[in-house]
Amino acid sequence: MEYIFDKTIDRTGSNSIKWDLTENIFGKEDCLPLWVADSDWETAPEIKEALKKRLDHGVFGYTFPSKELSEIIINWIKKHYNWQIKKEWIVYSSGVVPSINIAIRAFSVPGDGVIIQPPVYYPFSSTIKNIGRQIVNNQLINQDNYYKIDFKGLKSILSPDSEEGCKRTELFLFCNPHNPVGRVWNKKELSEINQVVLENDMLLISDEIHADFIFADNQHIPAASLSQEIEMQSITLMAPSKTFNIAGLKTSFAIIPNQKIKKKFINVKNHLVGAGNIFGLMAMQAAYNKGEQWLRAQLKYLKENIDYTADYLDKNMPEIKYYKPEGTYLFWLDFRDVNKYSEDVNDKLVKEFNIALEPGNWFGDGGEGFLRMNLATPKKNIKKALKGIEKYLDKYNR
Ligand SMILES: Cc1ncc(COP(=O)(O)O)c(C=O)c1O
Repeated sequence: MEYIFDKTIDRTGSNSIKWDLTENIFGKEDCLPLWVADSDWETAPEIKEALKKRLDHGVFGYTFPSKELSEIIINWIKKHYNWQIKKEWIVYSSGVVPSINIAIRAFSVPGDGVIIQPPVYYPFSSTIKNIGRQIVNNQLINQDNYYKIDFKGLKSILSPDSEEGCKRTELFLFCNPHNPVGRVWNKKELSEINQVVLENDMLLISDEIHADFIFADNQHIPAASLSQEIEMQSITLMAPSKTFNIAGLKTSFAIIPNQKIKKKFINVKNHLVGAGNIFGLMAMQAAYNKGEQWLRAQLKYLKENIDYTADYLDKNMPEIKYYKPEGTYLFWLDFRDVNKYSEDVNDKLVKEFNIALEPGNWFGDGGEGFLRMNLATPKKNIKKALKGIEKYLDKYNR
């Protein structure tokens, strides 16, 4: 079957955060929104088909995940990331962010520290703050826009006489692939992270929601897959939501090999957050069972968008620096030679050129001066956005 990603689907008026709330957030209507991380294409026809069938049944009472679904997830994870998990390790949930929230609540008390590595997906810091824990930043090192983990920094934060850490910092909230900088952490980096977690007797909460968006020679390695020791001190969070553009169905899962940790996680989760919903579970099953070809076609299309953007920047806007994403469909643009302030650039792009990107300062330390552009959209939109950015440069910087 041929899958088309070039088709423009009008998402306005569909309660889309990306298309219908841009005006509320950025203050201008009719902007091309390339900010929040969802895609502008229809999900796989195989998923639509499964949902239609379920819809036609017409009864939507309380539900639970099928046994078959666990097997389907196990196969997907083995095939795509070479990790053999067991069905009793899977805990269904209604989103990765709610699961992060649950994990932090279950394994820390107010005042405890949680390590994150900014610039990073901003609900990491807001979740930690909202529930009274302390953000412990280990900022990524930016070397010509290729980001590295500051292992020395980590060790220093965790040393007993550290001033940056907290009395108790036992949680490490990790992002792999890393949103927004697009790194797919390699085996050596992951092994070092795991070593830090094990040596300090911490719990690794690894958000791997972008695991299926991997480009060039990179390979997604679940951090927890590297040894039995780290399996026992980890919670891995995954979902088909970004991969198949079904984030609105609010269904995800956690992989928790240590049954004591799983029990504690479930104790906090129960009666608070469900195991997804009928349509989310159906969509997940169809996605992992029948969505392989569609995903391959999507990755090919995204790779073209990434290459097009990189070429265009090289040829026409060399003052904007970047490192091509190894993973995710998010392009992290370095505007620091143009304007130090992300919000100022975005504000002008919105108000004068009708383009809304995501200001880098939202992502915490190290994000100021950057903008994040979502490339999961028809090429026509990418071209329009790049032209708009070029006009901005002509007006303000040339
Ligand atoms: C790293 C990361 N984690 C989690 C989420 C959201 O997960 P959910 O919608 O399942 O709560 C996103 C969405 O952009 C993300 O980029």
